[in-house]
Amino acid sequence: MQRITRVEHDHKSIMLWWNDGRDSVFHHFWLRDNSPQARHPETGHRVEETSLLAGDIRPRHLAINDTGGLEICWSDGHESLFSADWLRKHDYFNGARSQPPLPDTWGREMASKLPRIEHAAFLQDINARIRWLQAFRRTGLGIMHGIPEQDGIVLDIAQSIGQVRVTSWGKVFDVKAVPRANSVAYTNLPLVLHTDEAYRDPVPTIQLTHFVRSSASGGEATLVDGFKLAEVMRAQSPEQFQLLAETSLHFHFREADMELEHHAPVLTLDPEGRLKEVRYSNHSVQPFLLPPEAMEAFYEAYRAFGALRDRPEYRLELDMQAGDMYMVDNRRVMHGRKAFRSGGHRHLQSCYVDTDEAMGRLAVLERKHAEHKHR
Ligand SMILES: [Fe+2]
Repeated sequence: MQRITRVEHDHKSIMLWWNDGRDSVFHHFWLRDNSPQARHPETGHRVEETSLLAGDIRPRHLAINDTGGLEICWSDGHESLFSADWLRKHDYFNGARSQPPLPDTWGREMASKLPRIEHAAFLQDINARIRWLQAFRRTGLGIMHGIPEQDGIVLDIAQSIGQVRVTSWGKVFDVKAVPRANSVAYTNLPLVLHTDEAYRDPVPTIQLTHFVRSSASGGEATLVDGFKLAEVMRAQSPEQFQLLAETSLHFHFREADMELEHHAPVLTLDPEGRLKEVRYSNHSVQPFLLPPEAMEAFYEAYRAFGALRDRPEYRLELDMQAGDMYMVDNRRVMHGRKAFRSGGHRHLQSCYVDTDEAMGRLAVLERKHAEHKHR
C-alpha cells in the first residue's frame, strides 16, 4: 500500500515523497481544480467552474493524514482530501495520461481464434456474453451462431446489445439479390471490402449482419481489420499513411428520397496520432479534387491502401451459414463478400447499433460481475 511520507510546496507546486521511493509533483491549480470535495457525490461531476477559480490559488496548510493521503486547506477557504490511491492513479508527473485502450489488431490468423458465441449462450449465460463483448471491444469483431431462422431477430439481438441506430433504411435492412438493384449489394456480384455508409455523419458504428438464409453457393463473407492495414502502411510508407490521414475526401449518396454527404479522410487520427476511424468506400467516394501537384502521390497512397485489403495475410474469409451473424466495428473493420451463384437463396438482415451505449452497457455488466477485469 502506497503512502505519502513527506510533503513540501513552492510557489507553484506541491512535491510528494512516497514510501516506495517515488516522488511526484502536482501543480497547485491542478489540485485545487480536481479537489474531490468539489465534485458531486453521486455523479462525480465537477460542481465548480474552472474558469472562475483564482489563477494564483495557494495551499495555506498541508498535512499527510493517517491513511497516507493528503489534506489541503486552500487560500480561497476550500478544503481538499486526496487519497493516496487517487494521487497515484492521476500522477501525471510520472506519466499518467488519458488514453483509450489500444486495440488488438488482426490478420488472417484471427480465423483460428474468432470471438464466437452461440445465440442461446448469448441469451442465457451473462459471463459468456461479457467475454464475447469484451473480445469485440478489443478486436472490432464478433461472430454468433445458432440464431433461429426468423425475420427481424437481428433487431432483438441488436437491442439487447445497445441502442439501435435508425437510418433511412429503417431499423433493419435486407440484403437480397433483386432485379434493378440500387446498390451492388443487392446483386450477386462480389462486393469489395468497404466500410458502410461513409457518407453519413456520424457514421454508423456497430454493424450486425445475420445470415437468415444462405443456400446459394459462394458468397463467403470477407472481413479485414482496417486498423491493421493502417498500421502496416504506417510502418512501411509513413508518408502515404500521412496523406491518407490529412486528405479530406467527399462521400456522397443520392436517391429519390434521400441525399447524404460527408467530408472525411480515409484515416482519422486522434491528437496523439492513434487511429480512430477508417473510412474506405470506393463506391461512394467522389472524384478527388486536390491541387494538381498533390494528385499523383495521393492516388498512389489510396491505391496502396486498397491493395492491402486483398493481401491474403490480412484477410478473413468466412463461410457463413444460415443462423450465423457477424458483428463489426464499422469505424475499423471492412466487410465484403465474394460472388455467389444466383439461383440459391440468400437473405441477410443488417442492423446498426451505437457503440457508446453498447460499450456503456458492457461496462455496467462488468461492474456487476466484478470477476471480469476491465479492459
Ligand atoms: Fe456493406
